Amino acid sequence: MANQNQNQEAAVLSFVNRKREDALSSLSGHAISPKICEDDLADVISFFQHFSDAVDTSPAFSALRDAAQTVRKAVYGDRVFFRGLIEFTNYCKNDCYYCGIGRHVEGVHRYRLSTEEILACFRNGRKLGYHSFVLQGGEDPFFTDDRMCDMITSLRKEFPSEAITLSIGERSHESYQRMFDAGADRYLLRHESASEEHYAMLHPRDMLLSNRKACLYDLKRIGYQVGAGFMVGSPFQTAGNLAEDLRFLIELSPQMVGIGPFIPSSGTRFSAFPTGSLTMTLVMIALTRILLPTTLIPSTTALGTIDPVGREKGFSYGANVVMPNLSPVSVRADYALYDNKICITDDASKCQKCLTTRILQSGNLPDFSRGDHVCFSDDRNKDEATNK
Ligand code: 5AD
Ligand code: FES
Repeated sequence: MANQNQNQEAAVLSFVNRKREDALSSLSGHAISPKICEDDLADVISFFQHFSDAVDTSPAFSALRDAAQTVRKAVYGDRVFFRGLIEFTNYCKNDCYYCGIGRHVEGVHRYRLSTEEILACFRNGRKLGYHSFVLQGGEDPFFTDDRMCDMITSLRKEFPSEAITLSIGERSHESYQRMFDAGADRYLLRHESASEEHYAMLHPRDMLLSNRKACLYDLKRIGYQVGAGFMVGSPFQTAGNLAEDLRFLIELSPQMVGIGPFIPSSGTRFSAFPTGSLTMTLVMIALTRILLPTTLIPSTTALGTIDPVGREKGFSYGANVVMPNLSPVSVRADYALYDNKICITDDASKCQKCLTTRILQSGNLPDFSRGDHVCFSDDRNKDEATNK
C-alpha cells in the first residue's frame, strides 16, 4: 500500500514538473498556454484530494506550490492587482441551488443602486487609487440593455481609461455587443461546472451548461477579456468534474479564472452541505496557474471567509488579483451569496489598507493599475503599474 502511494506521488510530481516546464517554455513569445491536458488530470486531482491532510508535509504539495509561484512570477512578477467590486443589484431571476440571493431565497432585502450611486462608488475607488472596477449583480431584468448601456456610457464619460468589468450573467450576443460598444471591456461569468451532469445538479432545469458556454464564447469573440471559473467542493462534485473544469478552461482559454470554495448559504437547498476544502481550492488555483500560465486569478473573498489567511495562501498558490468591495456599506449584508461573508461592515478604505498589508506581508506588491491580461496590455498600462 505504501508503495502504491509512493508511486502515485511520483506520478504527481512528474506531472507537476512537466507542466511547470511546459508553462515556462510557452511564455517565450507570448504563447497563451500549452494545449495539452492528459487524462491523468483526474488522477492528479484525486491524489491531492486523498492526501489533503498532508498539505504541509507531502513533496507533491510543495512542488505544486513552487511551480505555481514560479509561473505566476514569470508572467506577472510579484504584482497583485486590485479590482474594486460594486455589487449593484441583488435581484435575480435565477435559482441556482447554491446561491444566497436566488429568486426564491426568503428574507433577502432586495436593492438596486442607481447610476449616481455607482458613480459615487467609482469616485471613491479612484480616490483610493483604483483603475479597475467590477460591476456585479444578479440577473436582474430591470437592467435592460438600454439601462446598462446608459449606465456604462455615463461611467465611461467620467472614467475614460479605467477598466470596466461586468458580471451580470447570461445575456444575448447582441446585449454583450452593445455593452462592449458602450465601453465595457471585461466580463466575468463563471461556468460553475463543465460537466453537464454536475451542472444539472447545481441548477434548475431552465439553466443549461450549453447556454453558459455559448455566452463565454460570444464574449470572447466580441473582444472582452473574459473570466470563467467554478467553486471547489460544491455538492456532488467529483475529482472527474474538477478535471473537466480544467479541460474546459484550457479549451476556452479565458483571461481570468475565478475559483473559490463552496460555502453553504442558509435559505438555499444546499444549506446543510459542507464547506469546500481550503486545500483543494488552493490546489485548483495552482493547477490553473500552471496549465493556463497567463490567466489572472483572484484570491477570492470566499477563500478569506473560510480561513483568516486564506487570501495570502491563495497568492502562494498562484493567485494574483484581489477584489475588495466598493459597494456602500449599507447594502453589503444584502449581497450574501453565502453565510459569514467577510468585510460586510468594513468600508472601502479599511479593506484597501487591510489587503495592502496582507499583500506586502506575503512578499508581494500591491498594484493599482488596470491590470490587463498580458495579451491585452499595452505600454501605457505597464508604465502605470505603480502603487496608486
Ligand atoms: N459559495 C461560494 N461561492 C458562491 N457563489 C455563489 N454562491 C456561492 C456559495 N454558496 C459564487 C458563484 C458565482 C459567484 C459570483 O459566486 O460561483 O458565480
Ligand atoms: Fe476587508 Fe480585510 S479585506 S477588512
